[in-house]
Amino acid sequence: MPLPFEYLSRRTMLTRSAGLVGLIMSGLFTYTSLAALLTKPTPEQGLGPFFPDDRDEVDAIRENPDPNIPISQANDQDLTFVKGRKGKAKGQVIVLSGQVLDAKTSQPIPNTTLIMWSASASGRYNHKGDEGTNSFPHPKTGKIIHRTHDEYFQYWGKAVTNEQGEYWFKTIVPGFYPIDLRAGLYRPSHLHFKILSPNTPIFVTQLYFRGEEIPNNTLNQELLPNDVVILDAGLTPKEQQAVIVDYAPDPSEKKANGLIGHFNFVI
Ligand SMILES: [Fe+2]
Repeated sequence: MPLPFEYLSRRTMLTRSAGLVGLIMSGLFTYTSLAALLTKPTPEQGLGPFFPDDRDEVDAIRENPDPNIPISQANDQDLTFVKGRKGKAKGQVIVLSGQVLDAKTSQPIPNTTLIMWSASASGRYNHKGDEGTNSFPHPKTGKIIHRTHDEYFQYWGKAVTNEQGEYWFKTIVPGFYPIDLRAGLYRPSHLHFKILSPNTPIFVTQLYFRGEEIPNNTLNQELLPNDVVILDAGLTPKEQQAVIVDYAPDPSEKKANGLIGHFNFVI
């Protein structure tokens, strides 16, 4: 069932606009710097090896059976269950919403396709190439984590922006996972995005998590500055901050203990 757009964005939009008005009134921001703040392009980061392509998946999840649609675009924007399967994805539920904006004009871009994909709550991708360490000790607690396939997790989904350039996704917080256990390298929890907009080149990035109720929040923050993807993309500390989304309890998702986050892609 579609989530109400208006409700999802209004609360955060109001908070944000109130904050900005306050800053302008207090003289901390000129209109020029405000425009620059609003239009600062979202930092780009690599696609990674696990983008969903036909025949690469372990478990072909295709809610739309039309073979002319690539599998990456065959599923909807709620990744917390798979149509026709009776179960719910493991993990902390989140709703992410926001707008896609044009970096040159700050205007919303309607009719833009966002493809989002991620690992399961235990940190495993639905991709044949994800053959890394199946079990590993949690770097802080030592508790063994089993990276397992979750048949009720949708793994990837597609959203298309409306006339106001707005999008939303419902999903779970993916697990962090090891890159090189000996070197103590792990990828923090992250969501992947590929954005296909009518008038701009293909845009690819990743978003990270922050929030008291985000699983492994402290560890996730500690992993960010040494993350291989962030380092590879050459993100400055400021740019790193720009791709972290803060999540807080969502009053409309109380029963599911859902968290809500807001992010505008400026492309
Ligand atoms: Fe990844």
